[in-house]
Amino acid sequence: MALARPQASGDWDEVAARIASLTEGETDDIAKMATIACELRQSFDCFHWVGFYRVTAPGMLKIGPYQGGHGCLTIPFERGVCGAAARSGKTIIVPDVEAFPDHIACSATTRSEIVVPVFAGGRLIGVLDIDSDEPNAFSGQDARALEAIVTAAFGR
Ligand code: SME
Repeated sequence: MALARPQASGDWDEVAARIASLTEGETDDIAKMATIACELRQSFDCFHWVGFYRVTAPGMLKIGPYQGGHGCLTIPFERGVCGAAARSGKTIIVPDVEAFPDHIACSATTRSEIVVPVFAGGRLIGVLDIDSDEPNAFSGQDARALEAIVTAAFGR
C-alpha cells in the first residue's frame, strides 16, 4: 500500500530494496528507468509525476520512461529545473515551483519538484524528475535516498 509520503528512513529502505531486487542483473537502462519510475510513483501518494529525461544529444534531454500526465518531450540543458540539474550535476529541490523563475510547468497543479542527476560510468546519462502537487514535498533525506537508488541502479 502506498504511503502518503516518505517519513522514516526505513520507508526509503523498503523502496530501495524493492527496486534493487526488481532490477538486479538488468543491464538495459530503459528497463531500469521504467521500473524505478513505476515503483516510486506507486510507493508515495505525494509523488504525482515520476520520470526520467535522458541525455540523447549534447546539451539535450529527451523524455524517458515516466508515470503521470504527459511531460514535455525535449528540454535543453539551458531550461527548467531538469536543465539546471543536468548542467550542475547536482540534485535540485524546488520547494515552491512558482519561486523558481525558469521552472517548466508541465502540469498546472505541480507545487514542488526534485531533480536528481543520473550518472553511469562517470557520464551524465539523464535526470530523475519527481513532481508533487503538494508544496515543499521533498526533503534532504529524499534527495539522499533517490541519489542512492540511481547510483545503485546505473553506477556513478
Ligand atoms: N518541471 C520540469 C519539466 C519537466 S515536467 O515537470 C515533467 C522542469 O522545470 O525542468
